[in-house]
Amino acid sequence: MNIEKQNFIYNDTKNLDLSHIGDMNLKLDHYNLNVRDAKKVANFHISFLGFQFLKKELVNTGGVDQGQYDMINYILRIPSMENTYCVISEGLIENSIVNIFIDKFGEGINHIAFTSSIDIEIIFNKFKHLGIKTTTKKVINDKNVGLKQFFINKEYVGYFIEFIQRPNNDYGSEIFTSDNIASLINSTKRYLLD
Ligand SMILES: [Fe+2]
Repeated sequence: MNIEKQNFIYNDTKNLDLSHIGDMNLKLDHYNLNVRDAKKVANFHISFLGFQFLKKELVNTGGVDQGQYDMINYILRIPSMENTYCVISEGLIENSIVNIFIDKFGEGINHIAFTSSIDIEIIFNKFKHLGIKTTTKKVINDKNVGLKQFFINKEYVGYFIEFIQRPNNDYGSEIFTSDNIASLINSTKRYLLD
């Protein structure tokens, strides 16, 4: 750890073992917005900021019957950034998680997601060891595609911090899976119920 970093660290973290933390080689993967009108927000990003539209995705986070959807995501590629995305979410029913979240916290950033060169289970255990709260007791593992994710609680920085690890198989090119999105968003429900 360099001197500048040491000087910056607050008293409440200076005695913690933060090895690994400095070596995670984090890379921005995506950020997620919760908004009332995803099409409008996507269009602004595309028209005025040069984001590239990739796809629309319907998700059932559990608020509606099977075969129906309570959330839509517009997935855009961030300009000049390879494999880095902006995911814009809108709730499709009044009491969807997205809308309840907006009622409580307003529109804007829900979470920012990173990949790391270190295995996600090691990172998760490290954070747990440091007493940092996460929205699930373990890493969410979508066994069908091998995708692993977890969230650090929102209270530390004002948004959820997501860690995501994609598999090295054919599914690795799939950006997100509906099951994983539903698991993650449901793990944040605590904030809506408090
Ligand atoms: Fe995410």
